[in-house]
Amino acid sequence: MFFGKKILIGITGGIAVYKTAELVRQFKKAGAQVRVVMTDAATKFVSPLTFETLSENDVLTGLFPETSSKQTAHIEWARWSDVMVICPATLNTIGKIASGIADNALTTTIMAANVPVIFCPAMNKAMFANSIYRENQKKLQEHGYYFVEPGIGELACGEVGYGRLADIETIFDAVKLRLFGKNDFSGKKLLITAGPTEEPLDPVRYLTNLSSGKMGFALAEQAKIRGAEVVLVSGPVNLRTFSGVELVHIRTAFEMEQQVLKRLEGTDVLIMAAAVSDYRPAEYSPNKLKKQDNPKSLALIMNNDILAKAGQNKGNRIQVGFSVETENEYDYSLDKLRRKNCDFIVINNPARPGAGFRNDTNRVTVLDNKGNMERYPLLSKYRVADRILDKVFNLMQNG
Ligand code: CTP
Repeated sequence: MFFGKKILIGITGGIAVYKTAELVRQFKKAGAQVRVVMTDAATKFVSPLTFETLSENDVLTGLFPETSSKQTAHIEWARWSDVMVICPATLNTIGKIASGIADNALTTTIMAANVPVIFCPAMNKAMFANSIYRENQKKLQEHGYYFVEPGIGELACGEVGYGRLADIETIFDAVKLRLFGKNDFSGKKLLITAGPTEEPLDPVRYLTNLSSGKMGFALAEQAKIRGAEVVLVSGPVNLRTFSGVELVHIRTAFEMEQQVLKRLEGTDVLIMAAAVSDYRPAEYSPNKLKKQDNPKSLALIMNNDILAKAGQNKGNRIQVGFSVETENEYDYSLDKLRRKNCDFIVINNPARPGAGFRNDTNRVTVLDNKGNMERYPLLSKYRVADRILDKVFNLMQNG
């Protein structure tokens, strides 16, 4: 995703510096080019060699480097970058920028920047609460600088409170937003479902399916990056939710139905990417079934069809379904699309190479309510999500 992007990491002197090593590694792994600028204080915590090795680039530490060719490095590096991340950002450096002070390699580079600058503060909770600091942060935000708020937890000083560096994943999300953020879905409310459902038989057994939730989570992330307000109703999966997406946990199809139906009002787009169980056991045993209690056949009752129910009262809402088929893709999916009152349906044939439940890629076909079919090539689930959202956007614009 970050391929070709140039990220400048500024490091100031705080104990959280060691976490920045992981951040640099993650950006490199995602395909970005990374350069690091450190203050003197930062080099007291971790040697520049660590960041030279991780970034595979020189590290800028002084305003007056030995080699004369680097005398204007702060200007060149500021011009080079697509985004700057100051991590960790101390009260001192934030205060200097707020006061227009440029007295070292990092502060001069920040002042020369013409790209988004994201501060990731980390400090003791009393310093964070200090009114001078609060004023400085507010002032910088008014000048267009971004902040990733610190988290609550154990601080290096032994106290517990607000001020600990935000999670690396949250910082990563903030950078993604600044690099790729669009506003084409701003003001729109999207309700997305993801993952499998679990239909319990007893406290330790349940019926489920192979859905990993990756497609629904990718849709939620891309929609958020494109400016939407996103609610993600998900069955039990082991995935991280993109910052700012509201996650609603459910277990059964019935719980999903309740959560989806009560949120429909005011929703502009409903995307049902979840693999909802069609049936649930007719009986639930509150105690674990013993071998001799186990029935030889399992009586099932049908769950309500959530998408079809939502479709009965669709109004102007755009509805997108997913259809898993291994044969007669077109006919079966067209029938589903009509029964559930969808604008279009995304057909997924898990038998095709690269498609299916647990992969990071998908090969889907999109069928609209006029019977038009479009086959997408093999793409990452993020790219598939983006193409689905492009189609939703076109419908919002042109009907
Ligand atoms: N769906 C739903 N509620 C259900 C079952 C499915 O809302 N009880 C939604 C799914 O989230 C998906 C679409 O309907 O968006 C199609 O799901 P799928 O399982 O492919 O189709 P079914 O209608 O269940 O038909 P079949 O299992 O016979 O293919």
